Amino acid sequence: MSDTRPAGIAVLDFGGQYTQLIARRVRECRVFSEIVPFSTAPSGIRERGARGVILSGGPESVYAQNAPRPDMGIFSVGVPVLGICYGHQLMAHTLGGEVSPSEREFGAAELSAAQSRLLPEGKRRVWMSHGDQVLAAPQGFAVTAQTPTCPVAAMENVESKLYGVQFHPEVSHTEGGQEVIHRFVLDVCGCEPNWTPARLIDEAVAEIREKVGAGRAVCAVSGGVDSCVVAALASRALDDRLTCIFVDHGLMRLNEADEVEAVFREHYDCRFLRVNAGEQFLGALAGVTEPEQKRKIIGAEFIRVFERLAREVGECDWLIQGTLYPDVIESGNPMAAKIKSHHNVGGLPEWMRIGVIEPVRLLFKDEVREVGRELGLPDTIVERQPFPGPGLAVRILGEVTPERVRTLQQADAIVREELRVSGVWDQVWQSYAALLDVRSVGVMGDTRTYENPVVVRAVASEDAMTAAAVRVPWDALERIATRIVNEVKGVNRVLYDLTSKPPATIEWE
Ligand code: XMP
Repeated sequence: MSDTRPAGIAVLDFGGQYTQLIARRVRECRVFSEIVPFSTAPSGIRERGARGVILSGGPESVYAQNAPRPDMGIFSVGVPVLGICYGHQLMAHTLGGEVSPSEREFGAAELSAAQSRLLPEGKRRVWMSHGDQVLAAPQGFAVTAQTPTCPVAAMENVESKLYGVQFHPEVSHTEGGQEVIHRFVLDVCGCEPNWTPARLIDEAVAEIREKVGAGRAVCAVSGGVDSCVVAALASRALDDRLTCIFVDHGLMRLNEADEVEAVFREHYDCRFLRVNAGEQFLGALAGVTEPEQKRKIIGAEFIRVFERLAREVGECDWLIQGTLYPDVIESGNPMAAKIKSHHNVGGLPEWMRIGVIEPVRLLFKDEVREVGRELGLPDTIVERQPFPGPGLAVRILGEVTPERVRTLQQADAIVREELRVSGVWDQVWQSYAALLDVRSVGVMGDTRTYENPVVVRAVASEDAMTAAAVRVPWDALERIATRIVNEVKGVNRVLYDLTSKPPATIEWE
């Protein structure tokens, strides 16, 4: 993927909680979309070659003193504009309509729509989340939908190419929501649906070839889908001028490190170096119980391993890494709160501070998976759940010892096996077992036990920003509990974590 963005949709971000979702829904139409600051000038939109603009939702009232306001020229930028929620109110307010504070409307509402460019005629349930609402559309606009409490739930001015919806078409609870996005992007803006995995692969391979030229590159792989896909793209571009380094820190799931190695040996043409550094990592973690401290130590040990490898890898000009679009957006977002340091590889050693290529920096995780499938990578890689860089260290509360790692690996393998056949596997974004550092009393074969509990976690999520516990069938949970206490030494109790994120996080540490 070169640095010139393909023509697509620019999503102006007013701080809405669903902004990323809007960009993803556009991509699901096979059209490129990019999130840009709300203050982006019309010239910036034109430079990007955007074929349409979407104004996102946001937490403010258009009447608030510090309300984010776009450049007024955005409403006559020459390409169609769709305002969603706050964007809809902003459009109405700016162009002479009437916006007023209303009863907070949150959740499902019944929408009655007339036939229009964005909506087919009829009634359907839509998702609302707003305080203010539009009472009267600006002159020249037709009101195309309402709900019992919201008189202007959708409006359009076809001639001026301006469209607004109060509800959230990007949210999966809105019936026919994707059709609204589809109609706007393809019919109204006339975008070509050509943002396909095959095209992404061609562009990424071309970018890597062009940048690396006759040089050599290195790629650190974790076994996760992002780094494996990036390595596959780079391997296709560079063959044996690419060296992939896989550091097994001894904190992977049961048999996972061997599986990763097998995939590389079979599917890739690059040089592959596996470093078994379990003893080193576990030695450094001895006695440490504080989660952030664990992350720091693991980050530091990664650097030590890479430094040791410098000679073996040889001269390299480029580091290829799997940064994703949400990381790019997040790192440009000063409002992102610091909950835990997710990017555990804190800094790279000097010799790796070389040119960096991030071939999937414009992609969301599901797009990376599609690219992986198209590249012919096996399901074991493409379908792999996100796994934290520090591995099982953040799923073992308290001290991480070799014995506790083995205990957790066995419990975790049972959780995976049973969830796969539970009938809800396709709802699971991430699932795992965590080993707690409290002990409780139990009884086994007439004998008292005093051992650690294991917590089972299975969450549904779209992007790891929010998550909800999966409704795992009771039978499956019972099987998991019975098998763990029978098969895993040192565990006498199994709990299921029902907490959503927020207020909890997905991982326990
Ligand atoms: P939380 O626990 O914050 O996790 O809800 C959100 C997502 O991030 C992953 N995660 C990590 N990934 N290094 C990583 O590379 C880390 O230290 C780390 N901590 C959490 C987590 O698995 C989930 O997908």
